[in-house]
Amino acid sequence: MRIDLMAGASLSAAALRCAAEPTILVFDSGLGGLTVLDAVRRARPDARYVYVGDDAAFPYGRLTEAALVARVLTVMDRLVATHRPDLVVIACNTASTVVLPALRQRFTTPFVGVVPPIKPAAAATRSRLVSLLATPGTVARSYTRDLIATYAGACTVTLVGARNLAGYAEAELAGAPVDDATLAAEIAPCFVTDADGRRTDVVCLACTHYPLLLPRLEALAPWPVTWIDPAPAIARRVVQLIGAAPREAERHDAAHGTAHGAFTAGTCLTEPLRTALAAHGIGEVAVEAIPLPLQ
Ligand code: DGL
Repeated sequence: MRIDLMAGASLSAAALRCAAEPTILVFDSGLGGLTVLDAVRRARPDARYVYVGDDAAFPYGRLTEAALVARVLTVMDRLVATHRPDLVVIACNTASTVVLPALRQRFTTPFVGVVPPIKPAAAATRSRLVSLLATPGTVARSYTRDLIATYAGACTVTLVGARNLAGYAEAELAGAPVDDATLAAEIAPCFVTDADGRRTDVVCLACTHYPLLLPRLEALAPWPVTWIDPAPAIARRVVQLIGAAPREAERHDAAHGTAHGAFTAGTCLTEPLRTALAAHGIGEVAVEAIPLPLQ
């Protein structure tokens, strides 16, 4: 089973002036934000989309908080000036859990973030054993610890900082999937039993890359669990802020909306990946080079 609920994106619902065909910029360190792009496009198929993967700095999970804030501000300066979005979705837990305040301070453009879906996980669990599968960066954030203390006090939350899983998701889309044993080893710490015979029944997908692997994760899980993907809740938040699609847009379907793709290095752009991007509605892909300075 999979439950799609709000991930706790926080942004004041200030009235937004929105163009008839708003431009929505969806941003991630790499390909994970495609899972969010799909959900947002279904909700607003009439919008113009720009998808940007900061592959020059991938993976964000290994950057220090200070380096990550500096990097996202640098990249966003360029992207906001170039694409003039009406709204930006930071489709990355690793970034959202630390950079949203700085982004909101610097730009007037509204930002919607993706943060670990602890609240819906706590509502969904029966065993009260919940696992949070995320990058090591997200697991280490005080933001994540605060969410757990606020919403999951009655649960035992196992934090699993997966070092390689985002990279495995990228490999999957690039046409070079890792084998089952490697994937199973990465998610194994999520599956916990206790002395009373209770076992984990909910796993939060707290990195936007992981839903790209969901069919394989479901097949490799030692027992069935509820996987919580925040993407549909993020789409609902976007609609709350910019409004629903006008009636005539109901004729569109997500496959027909326009989406422009850009990568900050572009080294990931293999032929299988271009095909995968096209399947997510991104036919046209550019390199907008923003090298990562040596820290
Ligand atoms: N997709 C990103 C997230 O949601 C992280 C991947 C990375 O480490 O860059 O956390």
